[in-house]
Amino acid sequence: MLEKIKETAEYIRSQMTTQLHIGIILGTGLGNLATQITDRLEIPYKSIPNFPISTVEGHSGKLIIGKLGGVDVMAMQGRFHYYEGYNMKEVTFPVRVMHAVGIDTLFVSNASGGVNSDFEIGDLMIITDHINVFPEHPLRGKNYNELGPRFPDMSEAYDKQLIAKAKQIASENNIRVVEGVYVGTQGPTFETPAEYRYFRAIGGDAVGMSTVPEVIVANHAGMRVFGMSIITDLGVPGKIVEVSHEEVQEIGNRAQPLMTLIMTRLIQQI
Ligand code: HPA
Repeated sequence: MLEKIKETAEYIRSQMTTQLHIGIILGTGLGNLATQITDRLEIPYKSIPNFPISTVEGHSGKLIIGKLGGVDVMAMQGRFHYYEGYNMKEVTFPVRVMHAVGIDTLFVSNASGGVNSDFEIGDLMIITDHINVFPEHPLRGKNYNELGPRFPDMSEAYDKQLIAKAKQIASENNIRVVEGVYVGTQGPTFETPAEYRYFRAIGGDAVGMSTVPEVIVANHAGMRVFGMSIITDLGVPGKIVEVSHEEVQEIGNRAQPLMTLIMTRLIQQI
């Protein structure tokens, strides 16, 4: 694994014209932010050595290097999901590579189902913490001390300072944001009503099929993390309706520009 990370990082570094510190992973259909990146170089995943290839609809699968709000960033448009069949080392490989090229702050986004009854469809949720219910752990197996400690601390998996700044940016721009705990589950089914109740009961505010593995690995590597989720449907008793992938994408599309604004301003303040 160390060799692969090195090889891929060397390839990506050879494409970089400047040292950058900010990495971004964009979730399902959440490519809006990517359209704001200027002076860009696009590298399709298929031309990056050792990168898995994204298969799910709505993911175009490319790495974008450029400037967001004037700041140098590297963004992944499309991520690798466990439900697609990748193992956790593959799902989190890009985070290892980002760290290896010098990225120290990771921004992540996703779409999720709200289980907090105060939430509304289309809400933006700042992720304050997560609960990992994936059946496989990304750090299972031999630990490479070069990559991080055997038993990583997760007491502040999402950086408190970044959360505070994001809330301030949202309030200055009159954007409604909610905060909450993201439950990461394997999918690919959406939840049954009983499962939504269960995720609420264990302390979740929203549930989705991504993000947690990448955030674990980012923490293992000592990176700062900021995450936002777009609430595309509600798993709240009385409000549960049938969900489809298309609806999730459509709601996601509408809320995206606001998320882009918050993340861009936040990145400018780092
Ligand atoms: N459950 C799991 N993943 C999701 C959901 C959901 O309700 N909505 C968007 N991604």
